[in-house]
Amino acid sequence: MEFSDFDARGYRTVDVRTGYGEWVAHYEQTVEDAMDIALLDRLQEPSWAAVARAADLGCGTGRTGQWLRDRGIPSIDGVDLTPEMLAVAQRRGAHDRLVEADVAATGLPDAAYDLVISSLIDEHLDDLNPLYREAWRLAAPKAAFVLVTFHPHFIMTSGMPTHYTNDAGESVAITTNVHLISDHAAAALAAGWRLAELREGVIDDEWLALKPKWARFRNHPISAAYVWRKDG
Ligand SMILES: C[S@@+](CC[C@H](N)C(=O)[O-])C[C@H]1O[C@@H](n2cnc3c(N)ncnc32)[C@H](O)[C@@H]1O
Repeated sequence: MEFSDFDARGYRTVDVRTGYGEWVAHYEQTVEDAMDIALLDRLQEPSWAAVARAADLGCGTGRTGQWLRDRGIPSIDGVDLTPEMLAVAQRRGAHDRLVEADVAATGLPDAAYDLVISSLIDEHLDDLNPLYREAWRLAAPKAAFVLVTFHPHFIMTSGMPTHYTNDAGESVAITTNVHLISDHAAAALAAGWRLAELREGVIDDEWLALKPKWARFRNHPISAAYVWRKDG
């Protein structure tokens, strides 16, 4: 579904590499943990302490990788398309290996990971199917695939793309797509995944303390976390 049908901002739009290559300077100061980390904290599964090896798809600066490392996961490989984001992740040191690649074709080994995770990237993908298929290829039997997403309802109702402010003070959008919950279900089921858990994060008091101007969005869902399981 085209984001342009919902766009209320009209920002100039750039591609992923251009956008994150610029946003990287301020990314960690502007991305809110309420969006993704708060949801990861609420998941009942997987059992993070039991994970031996994780693949972090769209690892960015290593926020997700650091959260996994803090849960005690001993080995984490990260993949990202944007070299500037990877350079920050490299300095952070949460990952064992970092690879510059598309999440649709990571080059990582088959069936080697008991956790695959992808946080806050799918709105940049035209098509979800290659991501779910690649996660399946990487996943060992019984592995989990955790996907945290910018909620389609919030993108549609706010008309707000993923965006940042550049050094000139301009608000710039990064290519954003709207994927319905049913799009995730169709892509995941087609790849072979079974849904084990789904959580939604809503605009609550914690969010309103961060974004007081969002009072009109109180109780609207803004993010979601899926836990998919490879039964075979
Ligand atoms: C919002 S950041 C999320 C980073 C990290 N997971 C986090 O939660 O902070 C999105 C990241 O996805 C990466 N990305 C977007 N599309 C990608 C693709 N097709 N393949 C690999 N990385 C991609 C971007 O370069 C960026 O670093």
